[in-house]
Amino acid sequence: MKQMKLGTIGSGVIVRSILDGVKVTEGISLEAVYSRTEEKGRELAEAYGAEKVYTDLEAFLSDDELNFIYVASPNNLHYEQVKEAFLHGKNVICEKPLCPRREQVEELAALAEEKGLLLVDATPTAFLPNLDIIKEWLLKVGRVRLVTASYCQYSSRYDKLLEGEVPNVFSPEFAGGCLQDINYYNIYLNVTLFGKPESAVYYPNLCRTGVDTSGIAVLRYPDFVSECTGAKDTWGDNMVQIQGEKGYLCIDGGANGLTNVRLVTKEGEASRNLQENPDRWLYEVQNMTKMLLEEDHETIRERLKITAAVIEVMENMRKDAGILFPGE
Ligand SMILES: NC(=O)c1ccc[n+]([C@@H]2O[C@H](COP(=O)([O-])OP(=O)(O)OC[C@H]3O[C@@H](n4cnc5c(N)ncnc54)[C@H](OP(=O)(O)O)[C@@H]3O)[C@@H](O)[C@H]2O)c1
Repeated sequence: MKQMKLGTIGSGVIVRSILDGVKVTEGISLEAVYSRTEEKGRELAEAYGAEKVYTDLEAFLSDDELNFIYVASPNNLHYEQVKEAFLHGKNVICEKPLCPRREQVEELAALAEEKGLLLVDATPTAFLPNLDIIKEWLLKVGRVRLVTASYCQYSSRYDKLLEGEVPNVFSPEFAGGCLQDINYYNIYLNVTLFGKPESAVYYPNLCRTGVDTSGIAVLRYPDFVSECTGAKDTWGDNMVQIQGEKGYLCIDGGANGLTNVRLVTKEGEASRNLQENPDRWLYEVQNMTKMLLEEDHETIRERLKITAAVIEVMENMRKDAGILFPGE
């Protein structure tokens, strides 16, 4: 593929973070914007130089010029919108979490295969250069025994929840909650590095809507146990620590940042960082664009397998913890 011609769905903050990266990345350009309201769509289009604004989803997806749709709507809409995009012959980049349920991920992956289209979920963790350092240095810490990951980010939408509103991110109708939104990154990193755990339990702090505002997930692997903490109602030092019998890795910035990696063994200490730029979405856009332009189907399939495993772990933990979305 020579050029990714992008149309966006949604006008939240994340769209701007991604489009900031698109603006400076070769091989990808913004062509059209879909929003439910003309005004918001126009504002986004003007800020990022898109010619076309749609308020009709069908007309947007039927635009022949577009070959990629970026879905950045609330979680519950991803499945239907990705499916519709495929049915209109478009490749898709979808925000995380791709879907609330594993069977939905598998259905979308099968549809992409059937139609010869590309599907990738926009999880920055997967595209950060420091992930390679972590994989390399993991071999130096010996048998892993303990993993601790903490990603806590106090949300202005939590204030709104306390004021009596129900922001989408805290609504079961929109497949919200902290596990879906934040702890996702910890689970994603664990599954990327270690595969699917043998078992997993989630201990949530629930709010009045029935979803979680924070919580701790415990993942059990054959050789070790991993603790994943996520919060939208507190903040703290975000980090990941992977402790083995011969040493440990200390990763700054949490599972969605991976801003610096430190290795400590009996022989000494070393520190590395391949991410000079603090903008994690820039790395995501650049590396994802490269993978998609190369139409590297094998890598894309492998990534989707990781995504499906992450969603399965989250779905099971969530349901066991009594956090249910409509129809469940
Ligand atoms: N990768 C990351 O670092 C990162 C960061 C933040 C969010 N995300 C993901 O990005 C997605 C969007 O998050 P967000 O916080 O921007 O969500 P949001 O504000 O709840 O909604 C996103 C957009 O969807 C549209 N929308 C809102 N409510 C809708 C409804 N009831 N029906 C149809 N469309 C609706 C709105 O666009 P219009 O008004 O223009 O139609 C809105 O701007 C989520 O899946 C989230 O997990 C990822």
